[in-house]
Amino acid sequence: MSETSFEIRLKTSAAEIEACLTGILGESPQTDEIARPAPLLAAMRHGVLNGGKRLRPFLVMESTVFLGGDQQAALRVGAALECVHSYSLVHDDLPAMDDDDLRRGLPTVHIAYGEANAILAGDSLLTLAFDIIAAPETRLPDRQKTELVLALARASGIGGMAGGQALDLAAETSAPNEAAIVTLQAMKTGALIRFACEAGAIIAGSGTDERRLMRQYGETIGLAFQLADDLLDLTADAETMGKATGKDAARGKGTLVSLRGKDWTEAQLARLVQEAAALLEPFGERADILNETARFIANRNH
Ligand code: IPE
Ligand code: IPE
Ligand code: MG
Ligand code: MG
Ligand code: MG
Repeated sequence: MSETSFEIRLKTSAAEIEACLTGILGESPQTDEIARPAPLLAAMRHGVLNGGKRLRPFLVMESTVFLGGDQQAALRVGAALECVHSYSLVHDDLPAMDDDDLRRGLPTVHIAYGEANAILAGDSLLTLAFDIIAAPETRLPDRQKTELVLALARASGIGGMAGGQALDLAAETSAPNEAAIVTLQAMKTGALIRFACEAGAIIAGSGTDERRLMRQYGETIGLAFQLADDLLDLTADAETMGKATGKDAARGKGTLVSLRGKDWTEAQLARLVQEAAALLEPFGERADILNETARFIANRNH
């Protein structure tokens, strides 16, 4: 099957992100860094330069194009977000959390480099994200940088991804209702995806209406993203996914798929794609890529 122009666009931006992160994760210490310990650097590189879909940076870049902001800045902010996302995966896979051996088709960081290095690689990737935004190479006015730092911090910490991960682990032993699952998913996965979309508005210096719209779009596709992940955990195999599947059911994890079933989840994914399209409707063809991204997220097979 030949690749669609959307898939080519996603791949092209993934290659740009990979190149940007490869440059940032070089051996030479940066100004005011004292040294870069080799095993920790290797663990960080393994955690981030390992062929993820790079969907979050893609969203930063496409939201920025949509609103007319600077692409070079979007690339850097996308790279920063991918560092936070990759850190979240490195820690998510640890024995104390999901205890997984396979990620992006490779051994997880703690299997390849040991648990201590995996913990420290996660710590360092999280910190690096804020370094990338604040660094002079990210050419944006300080006010916009501060807004990005604040929004990314709020999306990553106790009220966002990390808090959501805590609720997610608790959902293995309690039986959360639908509203509680929606909240935990909006936090553990949705918050970073919402940030990706809102970042485009911040980089472009958009007004409050456009910024709100991008937040809503991000919330909608963020929910779809985790629903699709939970569905794929049930229906896909480890080889296609590059990570273990069937784990949610094995752990008795409360997800919308376990609560409502496969058919409802598929219908809900279609509803969320429609919801995203309704939000973008006033923009006509200008929003084609964002609409296609919503469809890709809902219908993805890996
Ligand atoms: C996996 O995210 C973790 C979730 C938040 C569901 P992705 O499916 O984006 O993983 P990569 O980055 O492509 O490996
Ligand atoms: C992880 O959710 C979300 C994160 C914040 C990392 P999952 O635990 O379902 O992600 P996978 O299935 O391991 O990628
Ligand atoms: Mg998990
Ligand atoms: Mg997991
Ligand atoms: Mg999962």
